Formats: sequence, structure tokens, C-alpha cells
Amino acid sequence: MNASSVHKISSHPRWVATMYEFVAPHWDNLVNGPWAESISSTRLSVEQMQGWILQIYPFIYDFPKFLAEALIKVEDDFSRTFLIENIRIEKAHAEHWLWMGEGFGLDRQRMLDLAEGGTPPLRDVQSLTDWVWRVNTKGSLAEAVAATSFAIEGVTGAIARKVCAGFEAYRDRPGVDMNPRTYKWIREHSHYDDEHPKFALEIVKHYAITERMQRQVMYAAKRSLELLNLALVTSTQTLPAPKVMTASAGSFGQPSKHGLGRETVRA
Ligand SMILES: [Fe+2]
Repeated sequence: MNASSVHKISSHPRWVATMYEFVAPHWDNLVNGPWAESISSTRLSVEQMQGWILQIYPFIYDFPKFLAEALIKVEDDFSRTFLIENIRIEKAHAEHWLWMGEGFGLDRQRMLDLAEGGTPPLRDVQSLTDWVWRVNTKGSLAEAVAATSFAIEGVTGAIARKVCAGFEAYRDRPGVDMNPRTYKWIREHSHYDDEHPKFALEIVKHYAITERMQRQVMYAAKRSLELLNLALVTSTQTLPAPKVMTASAGSFGQPSKHGLGRETVRA
């Protein structure tokens, strides 16, 4: 967001401190939990890295659409500018995610097929996607921005900073091409100044004007963090299968020796 479009960051009312306390354990679970730790210490195999990059992609692909749903509810210029700019940025970030996958040996078309519904997404990625979709379409603008830009985008910056060095340490692993396109997504998010979630919080504060709305905002932020954590953890346990099953091959619906269908589930 352009700094000139920001009037100023206002001081926080007391309920915002309560919200930070309320979401802190869930935020910490993501930043210091098993998923981030296993990347920052390079404990994941290249196959497991491919697993989460592939499985999370449908959520990344849909992210600008969630923001577009929230944009419909906006009643002021500050929030409108924030969301329009954010949609543009997140569209580019979805492309950078594909570059990250390609650097780890994933096929671009395979990631797109999963995102476009050729095969169902992972259960926990579907839960996350459905939730963020629902809160942006049916929730208040305050809930939508809290769940999406404050919680998900906010914690993404913290996670990226945590895993950045470990992620780039995969440069020596066979099958990985750690070029500037491969680490662009992680580097951009780890260098994210935290202005973006701060602007999101300004919008939340502007629209969450009753105690009931403020409570709903806290629950929305918490739910996003919980479901993101589940999606990330499960996605590293679901490895891309070496072979795609097709109906024409006569094996449709029949589990392969690698697992139940297209993806190998090792949960
Ligand atoms: Fe992003």
C-alpha cells in the first residue's frame, strides 16, 4: 500500500490488546510449531517440501478472490485502496508460489490442475479455504479483514522470517534449483515490513464498533490461525504421488500401492 494513502495509525483501544492475547497461542503455534521448525532446521525431505508447496497452492491461488469478496463490503476510501492494492499484490504472489514449486521440481500444470479443481484439495486445505471464503462473503468487513489480512497475512510474514534461512539451505539437495525465482516468495514475505497487517488492523478497528463485533473479530482471527496450522501440518504429510491416475487408464477410484488415489497420504 502506498504510504501516502495512509492518514495515520491510530492508538489501539483496549480490546485490541485483548485480541492480541487471545490469538497469541495460535500465532505462536504457527511460528514456533512443528511445521515451521521442520523447515527452519531443514528436517523435511525434498518430497515433503514438494508436498506442502503443492497442497497449499489452491489456497494461495484463491487468496485474491477472498479479498475481492471483502472489497464489495467496503464503505470508505482507505479500506478500498488497501484491498485493491492487496488483490494486485496477492495475484503476483500466487505466480511466485508456482516459481517456488518449480524450483523444488514440481510441475507447474500439476499445481494449476489442483487449484482449478481437477482433483480435490487436501481436506484441511479445503477447510481453511472454505472458512476464509465464508468469512469474506458472509461475515462483516471487520471479521473478513481480521481473518484474512490481519491473521493470515500477518502470521505469514512471521513464518517466512522464521523459515527463510532453512528454506534456502535446500539449495544443496538433489532435485532443487534454488534460483532467485525459487526463493522470491519466501524472501518477499520475510522482508514484508509489518505495515500491511497494521493497516488491516486499522480497518478492523474502524468497522468493529460494538463489543459483539469485536468478539466476532477475535474468533475470526483465531479460526484462521487454527485452520492454517492444520493445513500446513497435514500438507507435509501428504506427498505428491509419482504417477497421476486417470479414468482412461482403467484405474480410476482404485487405490494405488502408493495410497488412496492421486496423492500419497502418510498422515
Ligand atoms: Fe502474499
